[in-house]
Amino acid sequence: MLRRLHPEQPASFAFTPANLAWAQGQITKYPAGRQASAIIPLLWRAQEQEGWLSRPAIEHVAGMLGMAYIRALEVATFYFMFQLQPVGSVAHVQVCGTTSCMICGAEDLVQVCKELIAKTPHTLSGDGKFSWEEVECLGACANAPMAQIGKDYYEDLTPDILRDLISRFSMGDVGVPGPQNGRYAAEPAGGLTTLTEFESGRKQYNASAQAAVDLADTIRRIDGSEVALNLAWLGKTAKPAKAPAKKAPAEKAASTAPKVRPKKA
Ligand code: FES
Repeated sequence: MLRRLHPEQPASFAFTPANLAWAQGQITKYPAGRQASAIIPLLWRAQEQEGWLSRPAIEHVAGMLGMAYIRALEVATFYFMFQLQPVGSVAHVQVCGTTSCMICGAEDLVQVCKELIAKTPHTLSGDGKFSWEEVECLGACANAPMAQIGKDYYEDLTPDILRDLISRFSMGDVGVPGPQNGRYAAEPAGGLTTLTEFESGRKQYNASAQAAVDLADTIRRIDGSEVALNLAWLGKTAKPAKAPAKKAPAEKAASTAPKVRPKKA
């Protein structure tokens, strides 16, 4: 599949102050002359901030690392995890279409995306809130079919559950990620058959879903103020990043983390 820059590009790109401090810190991990090694984390942070990688963002990162633009473009176009076109302001839905998920109903999930979001992948929905694509195996095959939405996995999906999730996202509500059929993790649908002693004392959700609930950053755009800047390898004590400046309402809507609502019983 050819991956090209989107025909419509913003005029410029800049990291937020906190993301810039984070990016400059990442560069110091590498020895002099090897700054280009930081390209993946910097491109990824640019995407976490904007939702996708524009040409100005790729060139900005290349400039920070002293790389020719074409070399940064090679990286951005090689890895499918980098979005080269605008994604939905609320969420980008990535439906796994590989063997286990396909056998268990991924094609029906794709139909839901076509119906609710857009007929073709990598296309914004009419209201600009959503986009979708089919991706290769995301490593949750025991919980097929599944989709990644934002940072998290939604597993054991059915078309109705995905439809409900998208509609809730649209209203600013985020469901609990993880298995959607009542399973705790990837155990048999009927419950654990071995290691049953591990059932006691566990948290409400499995580790991944619990972290998603605790952090509540599933679909939030990252401006760098979320966690303390840690430059331990420079001997600097971590301190909280500066709070971001107030955003315009439209911008805020795209970056605010909706409240996580507990799973339905
Ligand atoms: S086949 Fe879908 S997660 Fe592996």
